[in-house]
Amino acid sequence: MDQIVNVDEFQELAKQALPKMYFDFYNGGAEDQHTLKENVEAFRRIIFRPRVLVDVSKIDMSTKILGFPIMIAPTAMHKLAHPEGEIATAKAAAASNTIMIVSFMSTCTIEEVASSCNAVRFLQIYVYKKRDVTAQIVRRAEKAGFKAIVLTVDVPKLGRREADIKNKMISPQLKNFEGLVSTEVRPNEGSGVEAFAASTFDASLSWKDIEWLRSITKLPILVKGLLTREDALKAVEAGVDGIVVSNHGARQLDYSPATITVLEEVVHVVRGRIPVLLDGGVRRGTDVFKALALGAQAVLIGRPIVYGLAAKGEDGVKKVIEMLKNEFEITMALSGCPTIDDITRNHVRTEKERL
Ligand code: FNR
Repeated sequence: MDQIVNVDEFQELAKQALPKMYFDFYNGGAEDQHTLKENVEAFRRIIFRPRVLVDVSKIDMSTKILGFPIMIAPTAMHKLAHPEGEIATAKAAAASNTIMIVSFMSTCTIEEVASSCNAVRFLQIYVYKKRDVTAQIVRRAEKAGFKAIVLTVDVPKLGRREADIKNKMISPQLKNFEGLVSTEVRPNEGSGVEAFAASTFDASLSWKDIEWLRSITKLPILVKGLLTREDALKAVEAGVDGIVVSNHGARQLDYSPATITVLEEVVHVVRGRIPVLLDGGVRRGTDVFKALALGAQAVLIGRPIVYGLAAKGEDGVKKVIEMLKNEFEITMALSGCPTIDDITRNHVRTEKERL
């Protein structure tokens, strides 16, 4: 473990550890995978305007709203990565004081995850054609002490992930819904995940359904998966409690913009009324800093967490979070920012602003 010095190195270890079908599922994006590359590259085009001779002998990475600016993104089916599945991830989250957003496509039940440790958990949801199924799970999450619901809005249909089609990626083994949906899924025809989504997800979902979600839960509701100022305004009008700027890790609409390039337009119209979070391509502590400088309250980490889990289980996830934390701390110090509030727009220069 001592030999691993950055999160990208876990990608190679995960590749060695996993059957090809599963690695491709975790690793891949939609179609040409243009957005997949861009999510990472766009961060690299942002450079720093560091300030010096500031007292950085103490660095405070805590934030007012979420406690800490790095969170675990919801990713599906952790038992494909490691036998302990979401429980291992949750334990690592608890040990690192990091909020975990548990995927609706979890391979451990929400009660199993809840009773395994005291991690702060949010539940990500999809709205199923059978709305009762979604409502039931939301109620169970409330009971199990989940703190918020994250409604993913960018999957009316599943994006075309060509590796999954070729590999005939298995249909999901979802513990939360056992017996409810498994018979609707066609096995062995292209991507089983795509078949599952097509038969199960409600593609008629629209803004008015936020009201329905409000009617079934008292928990805060975040909307995950928007990329424009127009939709950010709709989300604020709909009364949600937070936004996650996301293109689903480039797994849905290829040629969507890299998330970091549209963060500011969203932040600009939200005007501080609700928190704005971001995910997609965060691989370094410097990326966390860049997202915060451009107005995000926190970032979510997707693939690196799954790679850590696949390579080394709970310890791998802990290590991924620890490395990002350390890098972020160093970035704050070298930029002259002892606290999160000290990070400003002036600490970064985007491509548009290059001379
Ligand atoms: C995801 N993502 C996702 N999102 C969601 O809302 N529900 C889900 O079940 C999943 N499942 C999932 C599986 C895998 C393997 C990946 C890679 C991603 C998207 C995820 O929450 C997040 O938006 C991206 O992963 C962020 O991009 P990075 O960090 O992977 O670049």
